[in-house]
Amino acid sequence: MKHSLSYLAILIVLLYALANAYFKHHSLKTMHTTSKTYAEHTAVHTMPHIDEELSRIGTPEYTRQYITDIIDYGSRNLHFKKEEIMEKGFVSKKDAPKVACYVMTLSGEKCDYPYEASLLYASNCAGCHGNDGKGLDGTYPDLTRRPLLGIALRRSFLENLRGSR
Ligand code: HEC
Repeated sequence: MKHSLSYLAILIVLLYALANAYFKHHSLKTMHTTSKTYAEHTAVHTMPHIDEELSRIGTPEYTRQYITDIIDYGSRNLHFKKEEIMEKGFVSKKDAPKVACYVMTLSGEKCDYPYEASLLYASNCAGCHGNDGKGLDGTYPDLTRRPLLGIALRRSFLENLRGSR
């Protein structure tokens, strides 16, 4: 009787372990068949970001942020002129949004900038982009064209991403 009790106990433990293993395997299998691949998963998540950015891309706020980023981080990907890049930090990070705002007014957009921003532009940017922002007869990018080169590139990049889904 004593022996059969311990056999029973071992049997119960074994059955429990077997059942556990089975359910674990089963739920792993269903997880695999129902969950998406990593690419599909990220596709679902990034789509709203792409649409959201595309909806903002023509707005003055977007343009101002773009110009600010160019001042803060420089520009080397527009291939405007072979080997010619724009260094970062021609004005400080604090002044960059003000100068960006001034640049926008060169194409007739409304943006309230402090007087110093026009002086900062004249002494740090106009040497290449011209006082009127038009880029000294095509020698440097025209800051009054819309969309700006980098924004046009960004838009087609995002549209391609969306299109390829
Ligand atoms: C030494 C010359 C030089 C100076 C000074 C300079 N830039 Fe540039 N800038 C360039 C060049 C060259 C490019 C294009 C770089 C590339 O091909 O990526 C450029 C690109 C840009 C662009 C992107 C244009 C577009 O169509 O996407 C902006 C905006 C810009 N500059 C703003 C400024 C502002 C604002 C200042 C002053 C704070 C400034 N730059 C000072 C040479 C200059």
